[in-house]
Amino acid sequence: MLDVSRHFFTKAEVKKFMDDMVRFKFNLLHLHLTDDEGWRIEIKSLPKLTSVGAWRIERNGKWSNSPKAADDSEPKTYGGFYTHEDIKDLVQYGKERFVTILPEIDVPGHSLAAVAAYPQLSATPGEHKVYQGIPFMNWFAGGFAAIVDNSISPANEFSYEFVDKVMTEVAQLFPFEYIHMGGDECAKNFWEKSPEVKALMAREGLKNMNEVEGYFVKRVEKIIQSKGKKMIGWDEILEGGVSPSANVMSWRGVKGGIEAAKSKHQVVMSPSTFAYVDFVQGEPTLEGPVYASLRLNKTYQFDPVQEGMDPKYVLGGQANMWSEQIANYRYQQYMMWPRGLAIAESVWSPKEKKDWNGFIKRVENQFDRWDLSGDRYAKSVYDAIVSASKDEKGNLVLHIASEIEGVDHYYSIDESAPDNFYPKYSKPVVIKDDVQSVRIISYRNGKQIGRQINLPVTELKKRAEKK
Ligand code: ACM
Repeated sequence: MLDVSRHFFTKAEVKKFMDDMVRFKFNLLHLHLTDDEGWRIEIKSLPKLTSVGAWRIERNGKWSNSPKAADDSEPKTYGGFYTHEDIKDLVQYGKERFVTILPEIDVPGHSLAAVAAYPQLSATPGEHKVYQGIPFMNWFAGGFAAIVDNSISPANEFSYEFVDKVMTEVAQLFPFEYIHMGGDECAKNFWEKSPEVKALMAREGLKNMNEVEGYFVKRVEKIIQSKGKKMIGWDEILEGGVSPSANVMSWRGVKGGIEAAKSKHQVVMSPSTFAYVDFVQGEPTLEGPVYASLRLNKTYQFDPVQEGMDPKYVLGGQANMWSEQIANYRYQQYMMWPRGLAIAESVWSPKEKKDWNGFIKRVENQFDRWDLSGDRYAKSVYDAIVSASKDEKGNLVLHIASEIEGVDHYYSIDESAPDNFYPKYSKPVVIKDDVQSVRIISYRNGKQIGRQINLPVTELKKRAEKK
């Protein structure tokens, strides 16, 4: 899955993405075409989706936390979308390479761009804008709530006319038998306050917000089926009492997928715990800022057919490249590879043939090929895995581990850059009070192989607290 909403990837980049995929026998490209940050597909019967919904203000840095509020005089210069001709071209390009494209239109949540274009879609009156970099969702342990209503109202006939128009064109453009309708992370706190949602509940006998969402999803499925297609959605669609013909993409761990397969739904496994390639893959201070971590060795443990699942209900496994934090194609490659290799091997190889050390040898051969082709990839596996703890006397203790065999880690505690004549890590090290920072460097066979990690003692103390 490539998220072309949060960061718009050009048609040429999507083609390049397919070229990168097919080297390793990935044969399905799920395009996440719509979200709060932008609507990326021309819908001729709803022109504002792209004239309004495809554009936002430009911000650099970690723009999703922009401290600067947008003002309406600021030009909306960032974005883009694919025309019908572009989509036909992408579909054909894929077909020539045995890649099928699965389009996703994410409703009813994640819909700020659509609501900005057609405010009648929202159950909450007021002004709506394509995400401007100002936080609009609150995330907390065990849940979330919207600060700005970013959902499509389930209680308004206009919403279903809208979905019908969108699905009509999407169904014509993409020959694949499935259409993905999203269904993930829909905040319901504005629905709870909405008179029109209350009236819908009374009319339809819906007892709670999950049933309200279930009502919406069922109507969307009917619309998709009326276009001759099958519906697939993220695993939240199970919560509203989904119809038996719905297909499920399991992302919140593997649980939803196992449950769905048990109730005889067809399932695609793309659990965040193994297959979210937008998560940090190595030492966080060297990588981009992302809230969760997924190392190559964990990705390699991905198994799309979990215990208790009948394989006949598993359509496949998938990696997801969300782009909230991915601002360009080269960085996308860095995040995708080599983790994409681990996913490819996990979906194509019998479990008993999997072998981490053998895999790493093949990964390193592929590094050489990528060096020649000029494609980007991450060498994060060579860097030290650094953690800290407190011993029984309250001393700070440094721990270093390796992701792969045969790598040695050397460290300094005196503010100088270490090399392979510095102390070599062999067991946990007590870090005395006068140390300001620890620097670590990795070598193999006498050659520097990893990047230097610099960790102030304050950072090590934080890691010790988390332990
Ligand atoms: C998802 O990651 N929200 C499907």
